[in-house]
Amino acid sequence: MARKIAIIGLGHVGAAIAHGLVTTGGADELIFIDTNSAKAEAEALDFQDAAANLKYDVHIVVNDWQALNDADIVISTLGQISLQKTGQATGDRFVELQFTKQQVRGVADKIVASGFHGVLVVVTNPVDVITALYQRFTGFPANRVIGSGTLLDTARMQRAVGVALGVNPKSVSGYNLGEHGNSQFTAWSTVRVHGELVGDDADLDLDALEDEARRGGYTVYAGKEFTSYGIASATIHLVEAVLSDSHEVLPASTYQTDLETYLSYPVVVGRAGVLHKAPLQLTDSEQQKLTESAAYIKQRFDDVYA
Ligand code: LAC
Repeated sequence: MARKIAIIGLGHVGAAIAHGLVTTGGADELIFIDTNSAKAEAEALDFQDAAANLKYDVHIVVNDWQALNDADIVISTLGQISLQKTGQATGDRFVELQFTKQQVRGVADKIVASGFHGVLVVVTNPVDVITALYQRFTGFPANRVIGSGTLLDTARMQRAVGVALGVNPKSVSGYNLGEHGNSQFTAWSTVRVHGELVGDDADLDLDALEDEARRGGYTVYAGKEFTSYGIASATIHLVEAVLSDSHEVLPASTYQTDLETYLSYPVVVGRAGVLHKAPLQLTDSEQQKLTESAAYIKQRFDDVYA
């Protein structure tokens, strides 16, 4: 059966996700949705110009909300570039909230009206609060609404630890948890290379490595004024896990009933979205950081939802 994915927001991130899906054959049909029709049409045409030289055929339609009806996945990458720039420059993704919260209500209504019954993957920042808003506005069960969360921050931590130890980032396991933002933390009790706890290596400056992950987006921003490939790869990883029903454990922003908020925690991902939480034995101090991050996100959500 054709794998059909909608991307709402064809900015740098939406386009990078589309490019990844098109070049890896990760989707058979794409739906591009953007308030800037000319931009969305141009992106679709640019991909059609690539078709003769690509391995895979992907059918693309533009601004057809009804096409979401039988889509497997809808990805929200909407946002406003000037606010993204301010957010990355000031080190606070919440500056984007004023714009994105207004967009999400209308977009959620249109998603529901289409009869979409697949998995909604949210990338729009501030991602934990926006994912929670999408869940409330759509009324979809929480397992079908997932934020990209700290999958990207975890990859940044894997990169930083990999560089420090001279190993491939894929050989670094473990998680950054909590908010995709400043209250996140590296759960060092989970981070291992070749079976050894990285936190046991006295030669490493764990705080500096953690900071590299937390500030990774701002660092990339400083050079190119947006981030795209890191977040696109994380999103595609999440999308692949859903489409292939992989039951892979990924740190993504999901609803935590005990903490009463969306935040990133390792979950098992499959065709139905979030299947269940993966058990973790956090230390007391990590549990404390998770609780604090949860309180922060919950407060920000309550402020905007009220
Ligand atoms: C980043 C954006 C996606 O961290 O928040 O790159």
